[in-house]
Amino acid sequence: METAAYALLTAREIGTFKNIVGEDYVFMDDESLDIYAHDETENLHYRPEVVLKPRTAEEISAILKICNEKNIPVTPRGAGTGVSGGALPHLGGVILSTERMNTILEIDERNLQVTTEPGVITEVLQDAVKEKNLFYPPDPSSRGSCFIGGNIAENSGGPKAVKYGVVKDYVLNLEVVLPTGEIIWTGSNVIKNATGYNLTQLIVGSEGTLGVVTKIVLRLIPLPQFDLLMLVPFRNLEQAGEAVSAIFRAGFVPSAMELVEINALKIVSKFVDSNAIPITDDTAAHLIIEVDGNNRDVLMQEMEAIGNLLTQYDIGEIYFADDAQQKAELWKLRRRAAEAVKMIGYTIEEDTVVPRAELPALIKGVKELAVKHDFDVVCYGHAGDGNLHVRIRKEGIPNSHGNAEMTEVLRELFKLVKQLGGTISAEHGIGLIQKPYMDIAFNDPALRLMREIKKVFDPNNILNPGKIFDLKN
Ligand code: LAC
Ligand code: ZN
Repeated sequence: METAAYALLTAREIGTFKNIVGEDYVFMDDESLDIYAHDETENLHYRPEVVLKPRTAEEISAILKICNEKNIPVTPRGAGTGVSGGALPHLGGVILSTERMNTILEIDERNLQVTTEPGVITEVLQDAVKEKNLFYPPDPSSRGSCFIGGNIAENSGGPKAVKYGVVKDYVLNLEVVLPTGEIIWTGSNVIKNATGYNLTQLIVGSEGTLGVVTKIVLRLIPLPQFDLLMLVPFRNLEQAGEAVSAIFRAGFVPSAMELVEINALKIVSKFVDSNAIPITDDTAAHLIIEVDGNNRDVLMQEMEAIGNLLTQYDIGEIYFADDAQQKAELWKLRRRAAEAVKMIGYTIEEDTVVPRAELPALIKGVKELAVKHDFDVVCYGHAGDGNLHVRIRKEGIPNSHGNAEMTEVLRELFKLVKQLGGTISAEHGIGLIQKPYMDIAFNDPALRLMREIKKVFDPNNILNPGKIFDLKN
């Protein structure tokens, strides 16, 4: 449990906040408080006392100075698309929304870099650099609505990570407001940097617990000119898992390799009203495989070779997406899976990750667990990364968070993941709801170090307190 008892806001602080950000950007009405009470995580609802929408790092600094002095919890928030409860104000206090900080400051074509504010929608940033023939690859499913700042907080991934890496691989330098209100830059706008501790990478993935990111410098790469997409139906789920590592062992590096189990496909096809992927009785799962590059002929050969390799498995007819529309349709079915299964009662999207070749063992273990505990289970995810999203459901249990039966099953799942050499979150973060499992991922000394780091940045524990872990005395 949190040890600090936090202060409630008074009219005086609200008045000061109005002076700092302007009256129009301080919200205390019921509707606003309800909007900011939830994100995309389960059906959780925690109201803040006030929502502030600052425009600059200086305003954020002034807000944090007051909250630090008065012992008021502050929860930074991007677009609220998170799925680990990281932006939920479960201890009340202030929601600090970055939504007005939405300017792309500079696209530096000479150095292949972009400097941006945190409230820019990821896809907007991707499209802006694309116009200059540049590429920012990390592409979470929510890229059409999530903010780049939230992606930094969670070290997000997405399908392209398998070839291009995750957010951390693109962040060069960050302007950060510390919980005390001081403002720092974490690094330098360079590719190589051996200067002191790597504060940049400490902030990436720290889930808004160490500081509020206000400017971001990202490296970019040249935009690949072509991509090809194919869909491979497997009659056996574990074989689909085995095929994934076989493709890499044979020397291919696809730009995406996603797995969608048939029950997930059925649900999402209905949800988006699409029959783009035929659902046949003997199909257990599909692999979506994409290759990209600058030479179409080479890509065609690569696809053919991957197809040939896969004939050693029990597969159905391979489907090649011919045009942009067909590709978009397949991607829609994959990207909207999370939303679709949530709608029909599947609880939190677990974010398990194992070394790629252990994927079949993970899949097998997940299925056994579901039978043992009599749960429904559905799997999909970034198979090429060994990153499998697992969701469980049981009649009458709307949330896994705080439910003893669910927690027990998830502990078993995460122990299996750990035993296979993996960990409990690949791209969603720990936030509020994966806290009970951190002891599976780390031993006590490692957890102690993390708590000490938090205390160095945030001695009064006011910034996103109670996320990732609780502070102990
Ligand atoms: C996905 C996100 C939600 O893979 O992680 O769909
Ligand atoms: Zn994902």
